[in-house]
Amino acid sequence: MITGGGSGIGQAMAETFAEMGATVGILDRNESAGQTTARGINDRGGAAHFYRCDITNYAEVAASVKAMHTISSGIDVLINNAGIGFVGNVEQTSEADLDRLYNVNVKGTFNCIKAVIPFFKEQSSGVIINMASIACSVGLADRFAYSMTKGAVLTMTYSVAKDYLNYNIRCNCISPARIHTSFVDNFIAKNYPGREEEMFNTLSKSQPIGRMGKPQEVADLALYLCSDEASFLTGTNFPIDGGFVTINN
Ligand SMILES: NC(=O)c1ccc[n+]([C@@H]2O[C@H](COP(=O)([O-])OP(=O)(O)OC[C@H]3O[C@@H](n4cnc5c(N)ncnc54)[C@H](O)[C@@H]3O)[C@@H](O)[C@H]2O)c1
Repeated sequence: MITGGGSGIGQAMAETFAEMGATVGILDRNESAGQTTARGINDRGGAAHFYRCDITNYAEVAASVKAMHTISSGIDVLINNAGIGFVGNVEQTSEADLDRLYNVNVKGTFNCIKAVIPFFKEQSSGVIINMASIACSVGLADRFAYSMTKGAVLTMTYSVAKDYLNYNIRCNCISPARIHTSFVDNFIAKNYPGREEEMFNTLSKSQPIGRMGKPQEVADLALYLCSDEASFLTGTNFPIDGGFVTINN
């Protein structure tokens, strides 16, 4: 089960897990995007189900999780990928901005974990991956609300990993630096019209390795973390950042 599977990193994860034989449940509030990802997987012979769902609404999340559990007789993996961004320091952030970011990135992640945990407990197994960000480890300019929410995603990861260790439920998070998705393209188009190429190059160089990451690279890390080969890993944050956190200067 992957939230935000209609676009970017979530879409790459849905396609990658389906290629490995998983039945994939895609939860997204964007119906046409989510349907397109699911149709593409099914057209290639995979198995995907789309659930139109706003993760900020617990009733919608619970109904989607229940439907997926029934259709696939179990859920092995939850990937809390859906998230939204906001550019601004504390003065430029309104109460409404803060609430919006909190609702999707924090409460949405909470809603999905809460809905899935009873099923994981019942089957005594399960893997949860949360999408955090490098913003949960370092101070980024003008990302006040976003960083606050991703810090909460990191600490939710530690808490869930600890509380459900004895139920054979693993919980880890992934912290990407800039990954080239529509998230980035929309940000550049909105904030730097006419300077798209220059800004793309500047943003690429903010990773010491000199480029942005690819959605597929994040999907491959998620696939490993959900596999049995990663059965010794829980309660850990995995940066995938071209060296941003540890060798930036
Ligand atoms: N792209 C990056 O550079 C980057 C870097 C670090 C972390 N991340 C994180 O990775 C995740 C995915 O990012 P992306 O770049 O692929 O984003 P994206 O904007 O391309 O895709 C996000 C998807 O989530 C869905 N979504 C948003 N709010 C939702 C809601 N309330 N309910 C259900 N679905 C909702 C959107 O419809 C969309 O399909 C996010 O959590 C983001 O914060 C991204």
